[in-house]
Amino acid sequence: MTTTLALPATPEGIARAAALLRDGALVAFPTETVYGLGGDARSDMAVARIFDAKGRPRFNPLIVHLPDLAAARSLAVFDARAEALAAAFWPGPLTLVLPLRADAGLSPLVTAGLDTVALRVPAHPVARDLLRAFGGPLAAPSANPSGRISPTRAGHVTDGLAGRIAAVLDGGPCAVGVESTILGLAGEARLLRPGGLPAEALEAALGGPLATGGDAAKPSAPGQLASHYAPRAPVRLQAGAAGPGEVWLGFGPGPTGLNLSPAGDLVEAAANLFHLLRAADELAGDGGIAVAPVPETGLGRAINDRLRRAAAPRP
Ligand code: TXA
Ligand code: MG
Repeated sequence: MTTTLALPATPEGIARAAALLRDGALVAFPTETVYGLGGDARSDMAVARIFDAKGRPRFNPLIVHLPDLAAARSLAVFDARAEALAAAFWPGPLTLVLPLRADAGLSPLVTAGLDTVALRVPAHPVARDLLRAFGGPLAAPSANPSGRISPTRAGHVTDGLAGRIAAVLDGGPCAVGVESTILGLAGEARLLRPGGLPAEALEAALGGPLATGGDAAKPSAPGQLASHYAPRAPVRLQAGAAGPGEVWLGFGPGPTGLNLSPAGDLVEAAANLFHLLRAADELAGDGGIAVAPVPETGLGRAINDRLRRAAAPRP
């Protein structure tokens, strides 16, 4: 057990967090999507600690976070598509999976031994300040125990990981609320995980539809692990109303109770998703959670992906 420090998102807090990271310790930090569990991506020890703290299977590779495109280019090979998408959408909720450069200097644990690497330049000002203060690449999966609901508040991080990590930088609630969109660009452009950047925006930028679905030859997102983002209570989707003993999680006008967005706004619903799933789980007691239908467009794709995994049979 370590004592997990709660650090404010001040220049002093960020400097302290960067010093801990340079010592190989783990620090959770806010991004615009969810809180990340950061460790030095060049250090086998730090990266091994990330897998341990989360209880994450080691075959599941991590996203590397960078302060800017120039730093990202030193780790991976950017073709014309990657350059265009980085110019259009970084910093922001987009992760690109690209061919790993031989001289990248990352711990092989980060990529789980693959010849590709997942890179992201986050937009959150605290994440950017931390990356600059640390001065290197940060491996950062979502800061939750593996298979559980991702954190969008500093308190969610301590609920799951207190005593297992050195510190949490508190940057308040995450504005986007679902993880980044992951686009594979090592071959044909493939949507590996729907997320905070709507797939429609990528398709417009690339000028055509994206391939979807896992590439059986390659390991991919915890997406591929059917049960993920799982609350304690069972989850029932596409519900019209709560059944006996169920907690209601609505979308748009309808029965009273918890609501992702009473106005039916998908951006608001994404920002509320993980927070309200946690709240519903606490209220559910021995019952379940009934969730209203959410449209499968824009951020709705990411919301439904997370909800389907929350509802999937548990291992
Ligand atoms: O928004 C986000 O992406 C958050 C914040 C903290 O940045 N991070 C996040 O990380 O969601 P994590 O570890 O929970 O999800 C990373 C995903 C995993 O599904 C993993 O399989 C995939 O990225 N991934 C990483 N490297 C990959 C690679 N080389 N090829 C295919 N998928 C990869
Ligand atoms: Mg995760």
